[in-house]
Amino acid sequence: MHVNGKVALVTGAAQGIGRAIAEALLHKGAKVALVDWSYEAGVECKAALDEQFEPQKTLFIHCDVSDQEKLRDAFRKVVDYFGKLDILVNNAGVNNEKNWEKMLQINLVSVISGTYLGLDYMSKQNGGEGGIIVNMSSLAAIGSNTTDWPECGEQGLATTASVCEPLLSSYNYVTKPSVES
Ligand SMILES: NC(=O)c1ccc[n+]([C@@H]2O[C@H](COP(=O)([O-])OP(=O)(O)OC[C@H]3O[C@@H](n4cnc5c(N)ncnc54)[C@H](O)[C@@H]3O)[C@@H](O)[C@H]2O)c1
Repeated sequence: MHVNGKVALVTGAAQGIGRAIAEALLHKGAKVALVDWSYEAGVECKAALDEQFEPQKTLFIHCDVSDQEKLRDAFRKVVDYFGKLDILVNNAGVNNEKNWEKMLQINLVSVISGTYLGLDYMSKQNGGEGGIIVNMSSLAAIGSNTTDWPECGEQGLATTASVCEPLLSSYNYVTKPSVES
């Protein structure tokens, strides 16, 4: 896929890997919606990107991806603002085993619901033009993990990949880019 002129939605885009992905997409000529639950980091990120790229190339959306209604609204805002969606990066994630239910909600459930929303907007079967969905995971999902991460969450993401795979078979499909800690 040529990235130039495409519209991307990146969750957890205010910092870290998500921000780097957003920046890389902008360098390639895409427009990027920066979705993050940290208002301060999101505003700071958008301001920094505005110094490098035209301000209208990015849109910051303050959203907790584990809030289904807010996530749905975020997709709607992206299409209202940019007119379409071509690339979805479900990157937002946390490492907080003390609040494991919220962690699973963010790291697993939101990835599944985000993927379905991506299909709603991009699937050719739904009148869209197709696209790419990238679901971020971890090496912990595919092998031995001796860190403090509760393996269930990350392994859940591996499961997500297999749940989503049949749905995405008509797409250019990328999943589980691994990042070593
Ligand atoms: N960095 C690593 O070594 C590593 C290893 C394994 C997996 N990962 C995965 O890669 C992804 C990115 O990691 P990172 O290191 O850049 O993390 P990070 O903590 O630096 O950045 C995560 C971003 O996601 C945002 N975020 C978290 N929960 C959110 C929510 N509910 N709604 C919206 N935004 C939310 C945060 O505000 C932050 O901006 C995560 O999914 C993480 O699990 C990273």
